[in-house]
Amino acid sequence: MAKNKQKDILVTTALPYANGPIHLGHMLEHVQTDIFVRAKKLQGHNILYFCADDAHGAPIMIKAAECNEDPEKFTKKIQKEHIEDFMKFSIDYTNYHTTHSKENKDIVNNIYECLCKNNLVYTKEIEQFFDETESMFLADRYIIGTCPKCKAENQYGDACEKCGSTYPTESVINPKSILSSTTPILKKTDQVFFKLSKFKQILKNFINKASLQPSVKSKLNEWLKGELKDWNISRDKPYFGFEIPDQKDKYFYVWLDAPVGYIASTKNWADQNGVNYLDLWSKDSQYEIHHFIGKDIIYFHGLFWPAVLYYSDYKIPNRIHAHGFLSINSEKMSKSKGTFITAKNFSKNQNTDLLRYYFASKLNSKIEDIDLDFDDYVQKINSNLVGKLFNIGSRLEPFIRKNDYNISNKIDKDFYHEQLLKYDFIIQSYNANEYSKAINSILSIADDINSYINHKKPWTLDNLEAIEVSSTIINLYKDLCILINPVMPNLSNKALNQFNIEDPDFTILGKDLGDTKINNYVPILDRLDTININDLN
Ligand code: MSP
Ligand code: ZN
Repeated sequence: MAKNKQKDILVTTALPYANGPIHLGHMLEHVQTDIFVRAKKLQGHNILYFCADDAHGAPIMIKAAECNEDPEKFTKKIQKEHIEDFMKFSIDYTNYHTTHSKENKDIVNNIYECLCKNNLVYTKEIEQFFDETESMFLADRYIIGTCPKCKAENQYGDACEKCGSTYPTESVINPKSILSSTTPILKKTDQVFFKLSKFKQILKNFINKASLQPSVKSKLNEWLKGELKDWNISRDKPYFGFEIPDQKDKYFYVWLDAPVGYIASTKNWADQNGVNYLDLWSKDSQYEIHHFIGKDIIYFHGLFWPAVLYYSDYKIPNRIHAHGFLSINSEKMSKSKGTFITAKNFSKNQNTDLLRYYFASKLNSKIEDIDLDFDDYVQKINSNLVGKLFNIGSRLEPFIRKNDYNISNKIDKDFYHEQLLKYDFIIQSYNANEYSKAINSILSIADDINSYINHKKPWTLDNLEAIEVSSTIINLYKDLCILINPVMPNLSNKALNQFNIEDPDFTILGKDLGDTKINNYVPILDRLDTININDLN
C-alpha cells in the first residue's frame, strides 16, 4: 500500500451525561468514532482520541438527589461505570476524563476571561421561575408542565418528549416545581449573556471552511438565516457546575463548560505524558480537530462552540461528523418497551465485536437513523461472518494440515493481484465514514475467494497444487482479517494469531507471507442463536 503523509489528528466523541448508564445509542457513536480512529492508526497517522463524562447540570443534580448522594460522589461512580462499559466494547481512548475537573475549570475561566476582554458578555435582568417554598430559581429540568405546542401533559420545562419541540421554560402551561409540586412564580434575576448575535459572519465563514456533511451545512446555514439570539450562559444557585468568577451565586450553564471538556481531557492526558496541551489545541496547532456527535447536538457544536472559541486561545474544529439515532427492533429506545438496552447488559450476553460489526455494516456518511433489528443481526453475523469471512480459514485447514502447516510462495498471482486492487477503496471508505461500503467490499472479496475455492476444488488436487490454491487464499484471508481490524479488533487479532501477526497495520497488506509455517486454524466464531431482547434487559 502506498504510504500517505503522516497526519496529526485529534478526535472526540460527545461527552455522555453522568446521570445514567451507557446505552447502545451512545455506543453507536463511540463505535463509529473508534473505527475511524483505529483505521487512521493502521494507516500510520498520529491520532489521539479524547472523551469525558459531562458531569454538570440540573438533570444530574436531580438524579444524584434521588439516589441520596452528593453530585460529586455520584458522578465519580458513574464515570467509573462508563469507562468499564466502553472498555468492554474496545473503545480505544487516549484519555477519558470528566468535566468536573480542575483542568476544565481553569480552561473555562480562561475562555470566559477572553470573552469578557473582547466585550462579548453582558448581564441582563430576565424573569425566571422561582420556587417560593424551596426559595430557589428553577432550572428548566426542575419544571414540569403542559407542552405549549402539542398540549401533552407532564413534559419537561425545556422540551416535549411527545412532539419533540423545545421551548423557553416561561411558555410552559401549568408549570409545577418538581421539588415542591407548587406553582412557581416568575421572579426577576440577572443572567449573563454571550453575544452570539455578533457572530453571523464569523460562523458563515466557519461553515464554508470546515469539513461538514452537506446536510449539516444546510441546517447550520438555515439557522444562520434566522435570528441568532444571544445565549444565556448562566444559572442561579443551587447548580452543579462551576461558579462564574465575577458574579455572585451564578454558575456556568452546563453547555458552556461541556465542550471545553474536550480540551480539558486533552490537558489531563498531556500533563501526565510530558506534552504541552497547547501544541494540540492552540490556534496554530498542526492537529486536525474532529468532533463526532449525534444529530441532536449539531447546534451546539456548529454554532455556539466555534463562536465561543473564536476569540479564545484555542483552535476551532476542522471537521464535524454527525450521525443519526439508533432504534431497536424499529422502536425508539424506551424502558417501558424493553428496547432500552444498556451497554453493560448487552456485553454480559453477547460478543461486543459483533455489535461493532453490525453497526459498521449500517453506518455511512449520511445522518440517517439506524435500526438494530435482532433477527437481521443474527442473520448477518451467521451468513457474513461465520459462513463467509471466517469460513475461509476453516475451508483451507485440511489442505494446510496435510502439508504440516507449511504454505508456499508459489501463488496464483493473477487472482491475488486482482484482489489487492480493491484494498484502497476499503481504506478510503473508512476515512470517509462509509463503513458499510468498506464492509461490503470486504465481503465481496470473501465471496470471490469462496467462488475461487469452489472453482479450483482443492480436494480434487494433488498436495502441491492444493497448497498453491491454499497459499493464494491464505495470503488474501490474512489481509481481510487486517482490513476488518478497525471494526472487530478482537476477532481480527484472534484470526491473525494463525500468522503470528500481533500488531497489524495496513502497510503489511499485500505483502505475502512467503514460504512459511503457520499455526493451525482455531474456530473464530460460532453461529449465533436467535436473540431474545428480554435477555438483554
Ligand atoms: N452531554 C451532552 C453532550 C456534550 S458534548 C460537549 C449530551 N449527552 S448525552 O448523553 O445525552 O448524549 C451523548 C451523545 O450520544 C450525543 O451525541 C447523542 O446524540 C448520542 N446519543 C444519545 N442517544 C442516542 C441514540 N439513541 N442513538 C445515537 N446516538 C445517541 O448530549
Ligand atoms: Zn409537545
